[in-house]
Amino acid sequence: MTRRPIIAGNWKMNLTVTEGLALARGVRDRCARFRGVDVVVGPAAMALHPIIERLADSPIGVAAQNCHWADKGAFTGELSPVQLAEVGCTHVIIGHSERRTLFGETDENVGKKARSLHDHGLIPIVCIGETLAEREAGTTLAVVTRQLDAAIALLDGDELSRTVLAYEPVWAIGTGKTATPEQAQDVHAAIRARLAEKAGAEATEAVRIQYGGSVKPTNIRALMAQPDIDGALVGGASLDSDSFARIVSFEEDVDR
Ligand code: PGA
Repeated sequence: MTRRPIIAGNWKMNLTVTEGLALARGVRDRCARFRGVDVVVGPAAMALHPIIERLADSPIGVAAQNCHWADKGAFTGELSPVQLAEVGCTHVIIGHSERRTLFGETDENVGKKARSLHDHGLIPIVCIGETLAEREAGTTLAVVTRQLDAAIALLDGDELSRTVLAYEPVWAIGTGKTATPEQAQDVHAAIRARLAEKAGAEATEAVRIQYGGSVKPTNIRALMAQPDIDGALVGGASLDSDSFARIVSFEEDVDR
């Protein structure tokens, strides 16, 4: 099976609404023509609505960077999948390492969020990945497997096949230090093997696994050449429409 690549930009807590609108326009102008790739941008929460409106005539998806699992309630400062679906979000990034390490996100909560997102027709982009200390201790696969199992625990095979996973080694995020294509492929293959144990062959074959961590126009091609790497979650290099477009157009023979 050939999986359709998915390239997503995680803008994190960068850009004002005005700046985000300008970047969204740039992404639309440069990326909408690449029809063989799913393209998603992930603006800050208050920019979601205006950016969704700006991109309405394009195939580009829009992701929130986090959510709560409840539909509504007394959860000051949170956003629910119901609210995100109403404004037209297509995806939600959950379990990002910054949320896990800085804001107390737990494996269990990521699983509840994935469940709730599917209930409301939103696609989770589930981030998993080990820290440098965990890699050096030889526990990479144990950590990633634990995070994966919890994230997908409440999903059926059909929901799983629509879920996007993002393997993001924490030591590669924002550091300029990318995992080698071989290091990334090893973990992606282990993730797919674990999925095969948990879900049917059909769902396992369909799940797209992005790599994230210092993805740039110069390294995207080698990463995408790996059999189990189906896309990228891009932080820093997604903040410039030109570099993001050069990542999205990885299949084209252009100067990077
Ligand atoms: P980076 O971030 O591309 O800046 O390393 C990736 C991410 O955090 O998703």
